[in-house]
Amino acid sequence: MTIQPFATVGVAGAGFMGSGIAETVARAGMRVTVYEPGQRALAASRERIDRSVARAVRGEKLAPQEGVRLVERITWTTELAEIEDAEVVVEAIVEDLDAKRELFGQLDAAAPRARILASNTSSIPIASLAAATTRPERVCGLHFFSPVPVMSLVEVVVGLDTSLETIAAADAFAAQLGKHAIRTKDRAGFVVNFLLVPYLMSAVRMLEDGFATREDLDEGMRQGCGHPMGPLTLCDFIGLDVLEAVCDSLYDEFKRPEYAPPALLRRMTAAGRRGRKSGRGFYEYAPDRARVSA
Ligand code: 3HC
Repeated sequence: MTIQPFATVGVAGAGFMGSGIAETVARAGMRVTVYEPGQRALAASRERIDRSVARAVRGEKLAPQEGVRLVERITWTTELAEIEDAEVVVEAIVEDLDAKRELFGQLDAAAPRARILASNTSSIPIASLAAATTRPERVCGLHFFSPVPVMSLVEVVVGLDTSLETIAAADAFAAQLGKHAIRTKDRAGFVVNFLLVPYLMSAVRMLEDGFATREDLDEGMRQGCGHPMGPLTLCDFIGLDVLEAVCDSLYDEFKRPEYAPPALLRRMTAAGRRGRKSGRGFYEYAPDRARVSA
């Protein structure tokens, strides 16, 4: 199957993941429109991308001129109608089923040319989003990993009704982004979170039970196994609220105790400790998100 390269992409949701996806798309030379109803979130997205591009330029991953051109390929808008020309739409809003279903209905109408209507969800069944559209065969998951500009993987999640043509288009889109695509069924956790989340939750339970300090748990996996971040640092980086939602969906689907969110995680999110983005999780963070040493 020959797939025409993609030139225009819409991203719905201007948070950490949506901004990272938009940056990656623009970096691959495509035009991208980022939709978000609030101006403040759009301004934050622009700043986030500017910072990330500056970091890539500093690290000599990107020439300064390429950085300027990358940002010029991005449009930020509060008007959903502006994604009209998008050939691919990627949704990356909060992990809330009703909000996502409502948005998928709107995206279906707003982007009539889209060959792919994708969700970056890590916990919501693709089948339930597809059912909110008139084109379920065009709906799939494209699950990116954070930080999106750095992590080379994308999971292509195949829903019950996703067509072979859409899967091939999703693989081609991932390749155009320079990402390695792996395929997974529409089951909670997909491939990576199914493996990663029980490991992270074991670390939370070990801390809860007083096995070891947060630092020793993290250094154990960093220096003992060569992981770039220890498990508690990674929990803070991903977001404790996001992990709680993933645990809930895994537990809901498989009813295995290793997926049940530990009480400590529940209490932390209830107390507003959502990790790095909220200034406090297993560690404390300054407003620029640098870790404050203990
Ligand atoms: N653009 C391009 N490259 C960038 C960049 C950017 N915006 N930011 C950083 N980089 C590059 C750097 O240049 C550097 O490249 P090099 O190794 O070739 O020199 C590399 O990325 C690492 O960057 P830094 O040296 O500045 O930073 P660190 O060494 O502290 O690494 C990290 C930061 C990449 C976040 C690393 O700690 C890491 O890989 N952590 C694990 C992240 C992880 O596991 N993510 C998956 C989370 S699970 C998920 O997302 C799924 C969800 O559903 C829960």
